[in-house]
Amino acid sequence: MNTNQFGKKGWTPDRIGNLNGKIYIITGTTSGTGFEAAKILLSKGAKVIMLNRNPKKAEDAITILEQELGKGLEVINIQMDLSKQATVKKAAEEISPGTSIDVDVSFPPPSNEIVLPTRSTG
Ligand SMILES: NC(=O)c1ccc[n+]([C@@H]2O[C@H](COP(=O)([O-])OP(=O)(O)OC[C@H]3O[C@@H](n4cnc5c(N)ncnc54)[C@H](OP(=O)(O)O)[C@@H]3O)[C@@H](O)[C@H]2O)c1
Repeated sequence: MNTNQFGKKGWTPDRIGNLNGKIYIITGTTSGTGFEAAKILLSKGAKVIMLNRNPKKAEDAITILEQELGKGLEVINIQMDLSKQATVKKAAEEISPGTSIDVDVSFPPPSNEIVLPTRSTG
């Protein structure tokens, strides 16, 4: 087994298999690491629920993703500003009760990244 995790022969997104049927929630996908994470996961067939504070920027990000990956992506945006608790509560309520979330990824500053493998229902 190759234990080298970095470098040319280490882990790359190429190693991610088919993610059909998986649901990821990503906070902050208008740029940077969140955008790149969304692109990789969508390219592997996952469904991505984006949580962004600016709907116009979110819409623009989805347009770019569709241009790069093609139409028919399983992606939706829900408005949420992490600094406004009411929008966090509303976003949580908007995510369909009963949705089984596979992974929750949060990148926005200043929190640094939090990756929470989850398997929640409701
Ligand atoms: N440890 C490491 O090696 C490493 C490497 C790279 C990055 N990081 C950290 O990872 C984080 C992200 O970096 P990045 O370069 O991807 O940053 P970025 O390009 O500035 O992206 C930040 C994203 O978070 C969103 N965001 C910011 N505040 C928000 C809020 N209150 N509610 C909802 N969304 C919010 C932004 O939305 P808007 O478009 O609305 O602004 C944007 O989509 C930073 O904290 C950075 O320090 C760590």
